[in-house]
Amino acid sequence: MCGIVGYIGFREAYPILIKGLRRLEYRGYDSAGIALIDNNEELSVYKAKGRVSDLEESVKDKDINGTIGIAHTRWATHGEPSNANAHPHYSQSETIALIHNGIIENHAVLKTQLEEKGYKFQSSTDTEVLVQFIEYIKSLNNCDLFSAVQIALKQVVGAYAIAIIEKGNPDQIIAARKSSPLVIGIGEGEFFLGSDASPIIEYTNRVIYLNDEEIALIKRNEEPKIFTISNVEITHEIKELEMNLSELERGGFPHYMLKEIFEQPETLKNCMSGRINVEGTHITLSGIIDFKEKFINARRIIIIACGTSWHAGLIGEYLFEEFCRVPVEVEYASEFRYRNPVIYKDDVVIAISQSGETADSLAAIESARKAGAFVYGVCNVIGSSIPRNTDSGSYTHCGHEIGVASTKAFTAQVTVLTMMALAIAKEKGTVNNERYLSIIKELQNIPAKIKTILSHNDKIKELSLIFTYAQNFIYLGRGYSYPIALEGALKLKEISYIHAEGYPSAEMKHGPIALIDNEMPVVAIATNNTIYEKVVSNVQEIKARKGRIIAIINEGDEGIKELADHYIEVPSTLECLDPLLSCIPLQLLAYHIAVNKNRDVDMPRNLAKSVTVE
Ligand code: F6R
Repeated sequence: MCGIVGYIGFREAYPILIKGLRRLEYRGYDSAGIALIDNNEELSVYKAKGRVSDLEESVKDKDINGTIGIAHTRWATHGEPSNANAHPHYSQSETIALIHNGIIENHAVLKTQLEEKGYKFQSSTDTEVLVQFIEYIKSLNNCDLFSAVQIALKQVVGAYAIAIIEKGNPDQIIAARKSSPLVIGIGEGEFFLGSDASPIIEYTNRVIYLNDEEIALIKRNEEPKIFTISNVEITHEIKELEMNLSELERGGFPHYMLKEIFEQPETLKNCMSGRINVEGTHITLSGIIDFKEKFINARRIIIIACGTSWHAGLIGEYLFEEFCRVPVEVEYASEFRYRNPVIYKDDVVIAISQSGETADSLAAIESARKAGAFVYGVCNVIGSSIPRNTDSGSYTHCGHEIGVASTKAFTAQVTVLTMMALAIAKEKGTVNNERYLSIIKELQNIPAKIKTILSHNDKIKELSLIFTYAQNFIYLGRGYSYPIALEGALKLKEISYIHAEGYPSAEMKHGPIALIDNEMPVVAIATNNTIYEKVVSNVQEIKARKGRIIAIINEGDEGIKELADHYIEVPSTLECLDPLLSCIPLQLLAYHIAVNKNRDVDMPRNLAKSVTVE
């Protein structure tokens, strides 16, 4: 989703801004732009539809000097991707330039008012309405830009992270946020802005996270000042970032997605480290310790999430119900927030999110908190909005995930949920010690077993060639494998653009089996579990209709090999941990099919890494 970068300091701004935009490319975008104030205090805006490289091409013979500037990657919401709709947007007099991430919901009303006053618009964006409105307020009140922004934002309905610069004022950037992330980097005599820390980390690890309805005045050579939009000054803690630069590079892999798939043995070790004791006899999650009564006495657990994180939530449902004997509901955050759900004060709500910035998840959290429920976050990005807006939580600690298709964050989420379920079950006395110990032991074997699956990468790559030109795919699983069928299908569709659906295997005969013919590839997760025989019967039903079966099986399972047209072996494990293994070949299969189709694997069309609008 849209990315924001800003710089004010002693260096040339342009190279820093361009590099920053590149670091934010992973978020997904369709156009890019930059605004600079040069040494004569003139303000210039350059923008281009397409990639950051198109923007660079378009400014090749332009004067791009100056030590202050703002830059943006746009992911279209209002108005198609085009040069005119790209940010920054000028105000009418071309003295103010603004970049924006979010949606101004009352833009139509504001635009009508401004048009009646003679304002003309160059784009179809809500963002241009905002910058024109700020200019209008400034002239109406005869005030400075900072006060105009404050007054304007009070009248704005919607979500925003914005950065603004002004002609003739080369010493300040104004930035504000509501429901869209914004980070200020504090260097020595220089300041940075970013939608997240990735454009900043190269220069400083000291940051301030702006909170909702806060506005920052970032002046050259002065400490940034932060106010609420009602003009109350706020003192902010400067936080130290834990991220490092090498996490942002591809490390020899052709794509971030492949790098991140291969990182999983390591990321899962990091996720468990310090939580499972060295003897392997106990799980401690600090986020649970202080609130263990909430979990023990929970009437119900409600899991809210979107996309891949929602699939992790479904696995969470199986885990919490099996081990903690508590009813669990898994909700799409986007539905939960508008559904007027019944929420009890003794409900525990678990919000799962890689980015920690998903707008729908944040809104769902707000509804849960308003209803008095205890809210626990399971997030990856440290310091992001969800960890800051929940009562407690656990980080997944899998490092920066750049590929738009979530892989290592998913397995880390499932690992955290497994540890949570076990830790709570132990407190509640709903798991016996022998079982508890055996699961902890096997959890620690998972990284090595993932390594074994990764060693089959070449075989999976070969298999992918057979199915690259399929139009449709079906993924089947039962029990703990059902969410993996959904996740496998999502991975394939989002990066290869092949239509794919996941189903619980036994549902096939209630409709979808009509789709099966000798052209339909069916990925069947048929690892050995308590309902293995039933899964085999379901696979036989597909076989009888000549579906082309790709089975995910346990090493040495000869029976199912005979039924399947192709198979990928994974090591056997405990049923409750099987999702951590069976998802890996599906990630690789989707990856290779997408590469064969020449897709932009790390930045698939229309998608954004961090979905900060609803
Ligand atoms: C799919 C994917 C998305 C995200 C979803 C939620 O690979 O990455 O479906 O899972 O947009 O994002 P987070 O987890 O950041 O809340």
